[in-house]
Amino acid sequence: MQLLSQFLRREQLDEELTDLIATLMVACKEITLKLRQGAISGVLGTTTDVNVQGETQKKLDVISNEILKKYLQGHMTVAGLASEEESEPVLANPNGKFLVVFDPLDGSSNIDINVTVGTIFSILEANPAEGYHDEAPYLQNGRKQLAAGYVLYGPSALLVLTTGNGVNMFTLSETGDFLLTREKVMIPEETQEFAINMSNYRHWEPAMRTYIDDLLEGVDGVRGKNYNMRWVAAMVAEIHRILTRGGIFIYPWDTRVPQKPGKLRLMYEGNPMSMLIEQAGGLATNCYSNIMDVEPQDIHERVSVALGSKAEVATLLEYHQRIDSIIDNKH
Ligand code: F6P
Ligand code: MN
Repeated sequence: MQLLSQFLRREQLDEELTDLIATLMVACKEITLKLRQGAISGVLGTTTDVNVQGETQKKLDVISNEILKKYLQGHMTVAGLASEEESEPVLANPNGKFLVVFDPLDGSSNIDINVTVGTIFSILEANPAEGYHDEAPYLQNGRKQLAAGYVLYGPSALLVLTTGNGVNMFTLSETGDFLLTREKVMIPEETQEFAINMSNYRHWEPAMRTYIDDLLEGVDGVRGKNYNMRWVAAMVAEIHRILTRGGIFIYPWDTRVPQKPGKLRLMYEGNPMSMLIEQAGGLATNCYSNIMDVEPQDIHERVSVALGSKAEVATLLEYHQRIDSIIDNKH
């Protein structure tokens, strides 16, 4: 079996980028150990703080963020970092050539019930001339990502990584090494499995409701096949399932907070996951354009997402084009 370091050497990846990915993995191994300890080391439960998203921070959100910050600020190649748990970008080493954007612990409502969570990351090029005290250098579209991935803390810990040359999976071994366990992952084009939080049905726009209505009709409806549904409440776990066996994951815009484009965050959830999905042959859209083509205006910007098996996501796009145009014609 191949070690992550051997694999990256074989790919002839930039040496500093290789080194940065290795350092990120040291941080994620430390997070794994904290998660494994659970209640024994008193890391479960919430803090009294609320993050920039207005969400109560779990103790492990804060701990994971601090672990990643510690290693990344100490890495000479990192100019700065932006995190879900930090309202402003954090300066690291001004001459560094990379910016790292991350969600330290995605799906953290799962922590206290001992269900899968993960760390999502995106690596961008830094431009030392610009300085890193404000958001501007981070506001790059998803196409500019040099690498993206996640570490999934489930029954086993896995790194799923793309550097723009396909998607590969590495399993954390007993000796603490990430070993290549799946190469060049490809998502099946067709699927019979969807993931969406159905409790928001009444808040969706007509195209989304009609699309889901038709999936629920199964073999008796226009789609002519039965669909299965899954909802883990951790994007990282949903995307992992889709990369493994196909499917569609949707978190659409809804009327609850109309001024917000969606729930998930573009720079550290939408973009890295879209790069993985596209690299594995899938499609990633906000229902109007490809997520990675959206020009970010804010590091914590939100986006609606539909990601997964190419043919299924394309069908959802057709529903939007067809039904939105009927509604437009009525106005
Ligand atoms: O990071 C946000 C997140 O936890 C995602 O990981 C997950 O897909 C989603 O929110 C779950 O949202 P809800 O609580 O609405 O089901
Ligand atoms: Mn998240």
